[in-house]
Amino acid sequence: MKIKISPSLLSADFGCLRREARLLEKHVASFHIDVMDGHFVPNITIGPPVVNRFREGLETPLDIHLMIEHPQLFGPQFRVQRGDSITFHEESADPIAETIDILRQTGARVGLSIRPGTPLDRLYRWLDRIDLALVMSVEPGFGGQAFLPEALERIRLLRRKAGDRLEIHVDGGIHRGNALAVIEAGGDVIVAGSAIYGAEDPESAVRELLAIGDRCRE
Ligand code: DX5
Ligand code: ZN
Repeated sequence: MKIKISPSLLSADFGCLRREARLLEKHVASFHIDVMDGHFVPNITIGPPVVNRFREGLETPLDIHLMIEHPQLFGPQFRVQRGDSITFHEESADPIAETIDILRQTGARVGLSIRPGTPLDRLYRWLDRIDLALVMSVEPGFGGQAFLPEALERIRLLRRKAGDRLEIHVDGGIHRGNALAVIEAGGDVIVAGSAIYGAEDPESAVRELLAIGDRCRE
């Protein structure tokens, strides 16, 4: 699978989200958008009203990353389009099987994510029922944190367990210095916030990450 880049809008200017997206849309497979509720993580971002309005008129798929206690309640409030995904956390308060079904009814692709400290095998029993897994390589909540190197082994193990059928997203602390290691370990979709929107030239930051991916995989 060719490597995809999904810029995290958490590091973009929230005052002009659509303009920030337009800047990169021709290069990227999707945009990653972080939804936080102040309970599941100690931070609050944006929710369905803002994401839905932002979504209008944007062709590029959205990867919605729910860092919230109740994905069952809020997931269906996102007006998704073809190709969009909604990912929730294994550690959230809602029952997983039911949440997968509810999110699937929205028409979105469904993903499951785990915090760095959660045993990886807690993902295994859901692999047949999800479209993607999101491996966190920082503690969820904030952009700009340092990559946790133990994430590499978790990506490797997950890839071995899931085979090629699962799309693996990796999120947190990724930049041009460690992207190759993430891809070699088995990551398919590189989520990067500060390394892209914090760069002087976000477009060349994306191109550089894409070039690293191309060198590694066709
Ligand atoms: C963190 C978020 C990430 C974050 C990544 O909780 O889930 O998507 O935006 O930002 P960087 O790339 O700066 O670590
Ligand atoms: Zn995220």
